[in-house]
Amino acid sequence: RGILYMKREHWGSQLAFVLAAAGSAVGLGNIWKFPYLAGKNGGGAFLLLYVLCLIIVGLPLMLVEILIGRTAQKNVVSSFREIKPKSPWFLVGFIGLLAGFLILSFYSVVAGWSLEFLYQTAAGTYWFDDTISEQVRNDKVAAIFGNFISDYHRPLMWHCVFMTLCIVVVACGVKNGIEFWSKILMPMLFGLVLILIARVYFLEGSGGGYSFLFSVNWKAIWNPKVVLDAMGQAFFSLSLGMGAMITYGSYLDPERSLPRSAVFVVIADTAVALLAGLAIFPAVFAFNLEPSAGPGLVFSTLPIVFTKMAGGRIFGTLFFASLLIAALTSAISLLEVVVAYFNEEYKMGRVKTTVVLAIIIGLFGIPSALSFVAPSAACPLGMSQMKIPFPGGAKTFFDLVDHMASNLCLPLGGLLMCIFVGWSWGKDKVMKSASQGAEWFATHPLGTIWFNLVRFVAPLIVTLVFIYSFKIISFTNEGTLVFFKGWF
Ligand code: PFF
Repeated sequence: RGILYMKREHWGSQLAFVLAAAGSAVGLGNIWKFPYLAGKNGGGAFLLLYVLCLIIVGLPLMLVEILIGRTAQKNVVSSFREIKPKSPWFLVGFIGLLAGFLILSFYSVVAGWSLEFLYQTAAGTYWFDDTISEQVRNDKVAAIFGNFISDYHRPLMWHCVFMTLCIVVVACGVKNGIEFWSKILMPMLFGLVLILIARVYFLEGSGGGYSFLFSVNWKAIWNPKVVLDAMGQAFFSLSLGMGAMITYGSYLDPERSLPRSAVFVVIADTAVALLAGLAIFPAVFAFNLEPSAGPGLVFSTLPIVFTKMAGGRIFGTLFFASLLIAALTSAISLLEVVVAYFNEEYKMGRVKTTVVLAIIIGLFGIPSALSFVAPSAACPLGMSQMKIPFPGGAKTFFDLVDHMASNLCLPLGGLLMCIFVGWSWGKDKVMKSASQGAEWFATHPLGTIWFNLVRFVAPLIVTLVFIYSFKIISFTNEGTLVFFKGWF
């Protein structure tokens, strides 16, 4: 046993863990989704709600996950077996594995889009000469994204390239792979985003962007739909509910302070979401473009911004490099969850496990990439018209996988983890383990508050989010409650 324990890799320092965990949390969810949601849902008011969700559910659950991992020193499935042997709790680990598998399969496709735009921006391919009118030029730039995803060659190629990058990092192991790259990439990401914010600040007319993001529209937060949007976003953005933090926590030495690490990770994640908003909206406003373009904001609106901005090619390249870095450090955590399990349980060796799993996940991602391609003679496998029936409305393959993972597996996993720690593990054992490396926590009111949030409040709120995602309850735009919308 002692020898087995020695063999398990550990982070070199607490900072290494915090950077890797922040790397997992900071991802596509922060850089494109958060700013867009904030803009759509009342700016500053949404921000306030989001921060509230982070404190009431996000932070407690972050600590729950890291605690399970550090205590058990095992992968996501065996951690539950270690703490509660001979109980069915290990099944929660399998929900996590499934979520990791599903999320990585489509996450890599979207990360591939950022590789395409990194390449196109660096190469300057969409700076059309000004013999054509400005409007035509804008339309041409905006159309690049649609044309790109509706063809299959390049999206599939970039999907492969991105999965290969993930393999390279994860195959090198926790210390030489994940830790090494997180330590380089995370500070780089912060630096790049700060440079972008500074550049955008000096654009004429950027002021509108700041008021857009920070003006508080109080009416907006009385809409329950907005509350639940904020909750769901907090979950996905912090990488909670699937054991990414259990797995990363399992590489922590027992003497590290957990509450402090959890707070750092949550702050870093929130900071990058805010900073991304501060980089994107002022620029969009300076050029009178539409701020609520949703998924297209980053890939169709921002390229137009870059073509108009002095130094746009350089800053655009930096922007897409940031997006790629954010996506990569998140994707490796998704892959690590699955690799850690198969590597430890089936002893195939890390490199082989990583390669085999990444190939299987990559193959499963192909239909997601094809979900934007119309079927044609050249590509009969285009799946854009194939809608899979689902309660609450038929979905494309891409949307279905996203929905199953983000809206089913993550909240369900998070809910069960809260119940596990709050009701099954035993309060004394939980508090003893949580205060290892932070003795004050056992007797401090914050410790008691945390435990009660995990026991009562978080399960209740997560259950609400859960039934909302499945449209068991939903709300109209005016905020009226509806049951089973679109189910029958
Ligand atoms: N937190 C990532 C993001 O905001 O993009 C996504 C994610 C990564 C979710 C890892 C879950 C996970 F385990």
